[in-house]
Amino acid sequence: MTISSSVVVVTGASSGLGVELSYEAARRGARVVLVARRSDRLEEVARQVTELGGTADVIVADVSLEQECYRVIDSTLSKYGQIDVLFNNAGRGNMARVEDTPTEQWRSMFAVNVDSIFWLTARALPLMRARNAGHIVAISSVAGRYGHPLNAAYVAAKHAVVGFIAALRTELVGTNIHATTICPAGIITEWADATEGGSIGTMYGAAIPRSRVLAREQGLQTAPLSRMMTAKECSDIIWNAVDTGRSDDVYTHNGTRELAVLSTQDRCAQEDKFEALWIAMNQTYEEQRSSK
Ligand SMILES: NC(=O)c1ccc[n+]([C@@H]2O[C@H](COP(=O)([O-])OP(=O)(O)OC[C@H]3O[C@@H](n4cnc5c(N)ncnc54)[C@H](OP(=O)(O)O)[C@@H]3O)[C@@H](O)[C@H]2O)c1
Repeated sequence: MTISSSVVVVTGASSGLGVELSYEAARRGARVVLVARRSDRLEEVARQVTELGGTADVIVADVSLEQECYRVIDSTLSKYGQIDVLFNNAGRGNMARVEDTPTEQWRSMFAVNVDSIFWLTARALPLMRARNAGHIVAISSVAGRYGHPLNAAYVAAKHAVVGFIAALRTELVGTNIHATTICPAGIITEWADATEGGSIGTMYGAAIPRSRVLAREQGLQTAPLSRMMTAKECSDIIWNAVDTGRSDDVYTHNGTRELAVLSTQDRCAQEDKFEALWIAMNQTYEEQRSSK
């Protein structure tokens, strides 16, 4: 796809991966629509986008709300008349055991991570169909392909994203509209500390060394964690999927596709690989909870 003068919408453009996706769009001369709640951050990203050769529009919106999603798409279409790439990137995690997860946290995980993608995509599709062109990209996670403890609401929401885009692809066969799900593992962004209910980044930080000791003591496997990636590295892989018009599930981190395949063929074998880490996380969580 020729990106120059294309219209690229990026949700979650105020931080992390969304910033890098926006900068890359700018380098290609795109008209970049930057969406998030923090206006000061978006204005700063907009300045950089302009410096890099793109055109920036800032839309301050909470994508967990239906009408806000429609406003994002409607105002973009009324200004430009097209959307070439829709990056459904806005997302947030949580940290709580299932029995400690408040209903509002559960709903919040689905609103921001799943509902937003449905509302934005459904509103953008009619015009994409009319033009027979466009690319819908949804950022899921490896948490959308296999389980992780202490954030079941997020894991369930990211699984829903994988299913939604898979179903959408079956409705787009024979068209020139692409739909891609991205399944990253760890990316160095604010995500791990912005999780609702407490920082899951701090939890992993405490549990990983503990799990290595446990693995040695109990003869368990050491969890096959992939190297944390920068947002720029991840963005480059995602843009490559857009450039090649890839309608697929894309695994950005080494070894994660194989773990996803294993989880569908033999979920117990996949879970065994992480057992020491999951025990360490549960122990750390219980200690934190009882010290409160
Ligand atoms: N970092 C990781 O390790 C990792 C791994 C796998 C998948 N992911 C996924 O990758 C995507 C990007 O995350 P990131 O790592 O770049 O995290 P991040 O640095 O925390 O950025 C999250 C972005 O989402 C936006 N956002 C959150 N809630 C929103 C809402 N209600 N309305 C509008 N925007 C909202 C935030 O902007 P405002 O707060 O300004 O609204 C921010 O721009 C997410 O979908 C995340 O789940 C991340």
